[in-house]
Amino acid sequence: MARFNRIKHHSSTAKLVFLTSFAGLLGVALVVHFIWASSSFYVASFYSSVAPIWVLEKSGVVVVTNVTTTKIADKRENAKEKKEGTPERFLSATYADLPAPELQWEEMPPAPVPRLDGAAIQIKNIFYVFAGYGSLDYVHSHVDIYNFTSNTWVGRFDMPKEMGHSHLGVASDGRYIYVVSGQYGPQCRGPTARTFVLDTETKKWRSMPPLPAPRYAPASQLWRGRLHVMGGSKENRHTPGLEHWSIAVKDGKALENQWRTEIPIPRGGPHRACVVINDRLFVIGGQEGDFMAKPGSPIFKCSRRHEKWKVLPPMPKPNSHIECSWVIVNNSIIITGGTTEKHPVSKRMVLVGEVFQFHLDSLTWSVIGKLPFRIKTTLAGFWDGWLYFTSGQRDSGPDNPRPKKVIGEMWRTKLSL
Ligand SMILES: *[C@@H]1O[C@H](CO)[C@@H](O)[C@H](O)[C@H]1NC(C)=O
Ligand SMILES: *[C@@H]1O[C@H](CO)[C@@H](O)[C@H](O)[C@H]1NC(C)=O
Ligand SMILES: *[C@@H]1O[C@H](CO)[C@@H](O)[C@H](O)[C@H]1NC(C)=O
Repeated sequence: MARFNRIKHHSSTAKLVFLTSFAGLLGVALVVHFIWASSSFYVASFYSSVAPIWVLEKSGVVVVTNVTTTKIADKRENAKEKKEGTPERFLSATYADLPAPELQWEEMPPAPVPRLDGAAIQIKNIFYVFAGYGSLDYVHSHVDIYNFTSNTWVGRFDMPKEMGHSHLGVASDGRYIYVVSGQYGPQCRGPTARTFVLDTETKKWRSMPPLPAPRYAPASQLWRGRLHVMGGSKENRHTPGLEHWSIAVKDGKALENQWRTEIPIPRGGPHRACVVINDRLFVIGGQEGDFMAKPGSPIFKCSRRHEKWKVLPPMPKPNSHIECSWVIVNNSIIITGGTTEKHPVSKRMVLVGEVFQFHLDSLTWSVIGKLPFRIKTTLAGFWDGWLYFTSGQRDSGPDNPRPKKVIGEMWRTKLSL
C-alpha cells in the first residue's frame, strides 16, 4: 500500500514539520569504511533521529540536503498553503525540483506491461525486467526482455511460482542472475525467503538456499565470489533489518549449504542502490547511522577490522526507491529519479525528477539533468552512450510531484558526462 498510497500518519502536521526540520538539520552524509583484512566496504548512510514511521518513509535516503544552504521558498507549495489557509513558510529545497540541464528524451517502445517495484538487470545489450506490481491487486510473475540494439521488446518468460513478485534483491555476474527474497503476492503481503538463480543463456531457474529470514527490498550484490544481502525490511515490511548475510556462489550455484552471517549494516531499510565498482561495495541509502552495530558473527573475530565514519558532501536531495535505478558510467554512478521526503504540509510523497551523478573518484554528487517527468522505482540501463529507463510510478503532472500513474514506458537520452 505504501507504494501506491501514502501511509497515514498519527503525527499532526505540526509534529511532522518539526520532524522534518529536525531530520534535515541533523542530516549529514556519511560513508562508513570497513576494512576487512584488505577489503573495502562502503555504506553511504543518513544520520537522523526521527520517529520510526517517518524513518520508513525516508528509507533509501542517500544523503541529506544541507538545510542551512538550501532553504528556499517552494512557491508552488506556498501558493497551495495560502489556498488551504495554512501559514506560509519556507521549505527545504528537498521538496522542490532542482535546477538541472534539460536532456533530450526519446520515447521508445513501452514494456508489454506497466510495473512498479519490479527489478532489472542488464547483461550487455539485453535488459531483463522482473516481476513488479501491475496494480495494487495484481503482481507480475514473469520477465520481459528488451534489446538495446534493436530497441524492441524481444521476449518474456515465467518466473518460478515460489519466487517473490516485488521488492526483490537482484545481482548478476554477467550470465547468472540471482533473485533474492522479496515480497510474495500483491497489496502489502510479506516477503518470502526463497531465493533463485536464472541462467540467462538457457532461461532455466534453479533454487538457492533460502535467506535465513525473509527480507523486503534488501540490498544485494555479488562481491568477491559471494552474494551479499543486507538491510531491507523484516516480515512486517516496516522494521528495518540490520542483518547482512553472504553465500559463496559460482556459475549459478551456491557453493555452501547456508548463508554466512556478516557484519550487520549499521542501519537497515529497503530500497537502496547496492553497487560494486572498483572492488568496493557501496550501499547508497539508509537512515540513522549513529553508531556501528557489533559484528553478529565470530567468523570475523580474527579479521583485522576498523570502522570509521566519513562525512560526505551532501547529496543534492534525499532520495529513495532507487534499487534498480542506477547505472555505472565512466567511474560514476548515475541515478534516475526516486522519491524524496514526504511533503511536510501536504504529507504526500514527493517524486524526484532529476538525474544524479555520484563521482567515485571524488565521492561527490552532481545533478546532470532532468527526466521527462518525476518518477520513482525506475529500472535503468545504459548502452552505447544512451541512458534508458522504464517502469515505475510517475508524477501527477509538471506542477504536481505526487505519485500517480504506474507506467511501462521506455525512454532514453544520449548521455554526455
Ligand atoms: C552546511 O552549510 C554551512 C554554510 O555554508 C557550512 O558552514 C556547513 O559546513 C555545511 N555543513 C555540511 C554538513 O556540509
Ligand atoms: C538484439 O538485436 C540485435 C540487432 O537486431 C540482434 O543482432 C541480436 O540478435 C538481438 N539479441 C537478442 C537476444 O534478441
Ligand atoms: C566516458 O569517457 C570517455 C573517455 O573519456 C568518453 O569518450 C565518453 O564520451 C564518456 N561517456 C559519457 C557517457 O560521457
